[in-house]
Amino acid sequence: MFNLEGRVAIVTGSGRGIGAGIAKALAVSGATVVLSDLKNDSWTDTLDAIAKTGGQAVGMACDVSDEKQMKALVNFAVSRFGKLDIMVNNAGIFDTAPVDTLDSAVWQKVLAVDLNGAFYGTKHAAKVMKKNKHGRIINIASVAGLRGFAASAAYVTAKFGVVGLTKAAAEDLGALGITVNAICPGLIRTQMTKDFLKDEASTKAMLAPVLIKRPGQPADIAAAAVYLASDEASYVTGTTMVVDGGWISHL
Ligand code: NAI
Repeated sequence: MFNLEGRVAIVTGSGRGIGAGIAKALAVSGATVVLSDLKNDSWTDTLDAIAKTGGQAVGMACDVSDEKQMKALVNFAVSRFGKLDIMVNNAGIFDTAPVDTLDSAVWQKVLAVDLNGAFYGTKHAAKVMKKNKHGRIINIASVAGLRGFAASAAYVTAKFGVVGLTKAAAEDLGALGITVNAICPGLIRTQMTKDFLKDEASTKAMLAPVLIKRPGQPADIAAAAVYLASDEASYVTGTTMVVDGGWISHL
């Protein structure tokens, strides 16, 4: 529906899950995609799926919590394809302990990946995007960036930070032709949520407050990302797009 031909995109954490879904959807819409994940070749399945649909993609390993690696990833995209139009800061991890027993090392790690990673991606993408006066930065936050959840203090804190980063960066970059938006997914069926959705009973319990009675799929989030990456979204910046089946619609 939206045409991204001629656009160059990076999607972090695109070896599986939501990142893989976004990468595939961007490629189907015509973008050339730089896939990235922690380990070399962890994006092979995504790359193969894109190749099967006639799309163009390459991959590079990058730990988003390491600024040098994030800078190198952005530079790789620019040296290979001449520019960067779309940066999707998707890679993320989760914690599951109540705050009074949350290991400080886990706290640091979740913030390093989920929040620092989005900052490094935003910073280094913006540096190259501003040369072309065009860019789309899309941060994958969460409904946990808009309300609290039990046993996820580090994750909630990081995702609230990602929403704040999105709004602050939009202020800095709007006049440079760069939009910055966040997508806040609800419960999406991926490796990250496999324990919450492990059987019918747990799935039913998780879906109790969700208005659309199914877990979301990576494709539901990918559709929002394609829109935000498109020319049609040129007047949308600093916002959060909630894609959660109505889970937090009462807020
Ligand atoms: P997932 O666990 O299935 O995939 C995450 C990917 O990120 C994996 O390929 C993993 O290797 C990669 N990754 C982890 N740490 C990394 C690092 N330091 N550097 C580079 N890559 C790294 O998770 P899922 O569900 O696809 O999540 C993607 C994003 O969506 C995350 O930011 C997550 O917080 C967010 N999200 C997910 C929801 C869900 O229900 N699945 C709900 C709301 C937000």
